Order: sequence, then structure tokens, then C-alpha cells
Amino acid sequence: MTLNINEIRKDFPILQRETNSGARIVYLDSTATSQKPVQVIEAMNEYYRRSNANIHRGVHTLAEEATAMYEGARERIARFINAASSREIIYTRNTTESINLIAYSWARANLKAGDLVILTEMEHHSNLVPWHMLQAERGIELEFIPVTEEGLLDLDVYKTLLDRTPKLVSFTHMSNVLGTINPAAEIIKLAHAVGAVVLVDGAQSVPHLSVDMQALDADFYAFSAHKMCGPTGIGALYGKSSLLEAMPPFLGGGDMIKEVKLRSFRANTLPHKFEAGTPAIAEAIGFGAAVDYLTKVGMKEIAEHEHAITEYALERLEEIPGVKLFGPAADKKGGVAAFTLEGIHPHDVAQILDQDGVAVRAGHHCAQPLHEKFGIPATSRASFYLYSTKEEVDMLVNGLYKVKELFG
Ligand SMILES: Cc1ncc(COP(=O)(O)O)c(C=O)c1O
Repeated sequence: MTLNINEIRKDFPILQRETNSGARIVYLDSTATSQKPVQVIEAMNEYYRRSNANIHRGVHTLAEEATAMYEGARERIARFINAASSREIIYTRNTTESINLIAYSWARANLKAGDLVILTEMEHHSNLVPWHMLQAERGIELEFIPVTEEGLLDLDVYKTLLDRTPKLVSFTHMSNVLGTINPAAEIIKLAHAVGAVVLVDGAQSVPHLSVDMQALDADFYAFSAHKMCGPTGIGALYGKSSLLEAMPPFLGGGDMIKEVKLRSFRANTLPHKFEAGTPAIAEAIGFGAAVDYLTKVGMKEIAEHEHAITEYALERLEEIPGVKLFGPAADKKGGVAAFTLEGIHPHDVAQILDQDGVAVRAGHHCAQPLHEKFGIPATSRASFYLYSTKEEVDMLVNGLYKVKELFG
């Protein structure tokens, strides 16, 4: 079934607005953050209007309603990624915090000097810097699966790195620059065969692909609500319960405890053990509404739509003299098109496109080492989601011809 784009676009009020110069917004920056449908905005409003109270602690009507909404969202998020249990879903602030939770709790309890962590050259800074910090503190070793010219991971090199029996393999399921969809199941299986634990950065995959925790067999999986039609300020860490049970708590305080004495405490059960203090309640409820929305539209249909848009975008961008595209062909990637325009700085490209309401991102997209690998400081990046249209791609392409004209 194809998506009814006109109906979908009506759900996103922001897509109807204009810039200050009167141009209609052409939002091609969903990789940075997605737009939010009215269903998510209303769910959060409704909580504040009708049910606002702190969770878990009260027996009054509002506290019970708020708790049920907060925990109900967790159940639906668990189902969305086919986790075995909602106890395996920890609310965090975002993907970055989910990865840091693993670096602070699991890694500091399990890694010592000389232990090897395998990452990749296409990681977002979120999945690099926490490991740099641990390397400085503990003396762990870091190795990187190289990225080929085509923008794929070199799995032959990965296999040779596995001979060194890493303790952890951590990689992005989908690149936020190249769009590459990595063969996660295969990477995980190979890591498990040598006894490594696997953490997957799912910031770009969960919003765009149908992901199944039990089929993938990832040990940990991190993602953010704001990239999947949900609000900012909330994300999730999926973890196998056996691993989460054995981990020490991350942040200490209220809610993550079972009992506190003056000189000691006992940690709460999962998932609360990792959720200290009053959480982002409205945001969790918005996260649940986002998952409901995506489920209703259909993840398979969303992926197919994005594929069609990406294929069209790559085709049209390739036609433009001086455009260089990064990343593999459309059949190996999600809805991301990173490119350079010969002789023109990506920031200038983005600024001129903005004059016609076309929103793309310019810079290193928090993947500086990847850009270094390709010998460039920055790219322009257009990215697509369920509400993107071929007409918007045409607007981008027309805009790029205009940029070329302006810069001679
Ligand atoms: C692949 C990838 N990982 C991690 C992140 C970080 O996500 P957040 O800023 O929501 O923590 C991003 C955000 O762009 C991303 O694209």
C-alpha cells in the first residue's frame, strides 16, 4: 500500500507554514530532527491539561493516571521494537545519553586496560566521544571498521579485528551522513561468536526501518524520540534484561531505589533502576503517541516511501553538474543525501536554499572523522521522512541550480 501523503502532511501543522520571506517550508532536515504530528502534540497537551502529576509516588487520581500513561507508553515502545519485555526499555534523554549509560555503567564495570572496543569510521560523535573518554580513563583500546569508498563497512577488516577478541562492538545501524544501512544482524552474530557484547546506535534506524530486537539479538540498542515524530528530551535504551540486571545503576537519586538507609541503598528493579529523579513524563507520553502514529501509518510503507523519494533524489541530484554524492546507491541506504557542490561551501548552499524555504543541513553532521576520511570538511545534507514529496526534491534541485547561477 502506498502512503496517502496529502493526508499525512495535514497531520504536521509546521509543514503548512512559511518562512519570514513568504516561502513555503520545504523541510529536508529530518535526520537532525523530525517534525511532529498533531497526534503527538495533542497527547502531550492532554496530559498537561487533564492528568499532570508526578508518577509512581502518589495514590491520587492524577498520579495514577500519569503513571499509567507513562508506563503505557513504555509498553508500546517495547512492542514497537519487539523487545521481549517493557522492563528492557529504559527511558533516557536521547541516543547520546543511552550510549553514555552503557559507557558509564556496563563498560566501567566490565572493561579494563587493554580491553578492545570495536567501533566504525562512520560513527556519530555520540558513539565516539564516550569511548574516547573511557580510553583516557581506563586505557581501553579502540579499533575502527573502515568505510569503503562506496560508503559501506569493510566487513573483511571487521572479521580480522574480531580475531583480537573485543569485549564490545558498537556501531550505527544507519549512517546519518551516508545513509548506509549496515548489516546489523550479521555484525552482531559475528561479534557474539567471539563473545563480545554489542551496542547498536539506532538513532537513524528506528525512525525509518522496522527493527526487531529479538530477531537482531542486539544486547543494547539506543534511540531518540525526536527523530521519530516524538518530542525532544526523551529517548530509550533497550537492553537484554540479563545484562541490565547485572549492571550497576547510572545516576543515583529518587525513583531508582528500593530502599535507602543513611549509609546505604538498595537499587530498584528494572527498568526503574536506571531512571533517577522525576522523568520527562509528558515527553514519554508524546513518545508513546509517536510510536502509535508510526505504527498506524506502517513502518513498511514508510520505508518504501522513503526509498522511492531517495531513489528519485539521487537521480535528480546526479544530473546537476558539479554535485558529488556521498554514500552507496539507494538500495543500500535510507533517506539521506549528503553532497558537495564543486567550488561552493556547503554553508553557502544551505543559506541560499533557505531563501526559498528549502531547509537542508550543512557541516560535518557530528561525524567529523567520516568527513576527514573523505577528505572534506563538510557536506550539505538533504534528508527525507514519511511526509517528504518528490515536489520537495524538485524544489531542492531548482534551488541548487540557482545557487550555481549565483556563484557563477
Ligand atoms: C547516527 C546518530 N547517532 C546518534 C545521534 C545523536 O542523537 P541525539 O542527539 O538525539 O542524542 C544522532 C543524531 O543526529 C545520529 O544521527
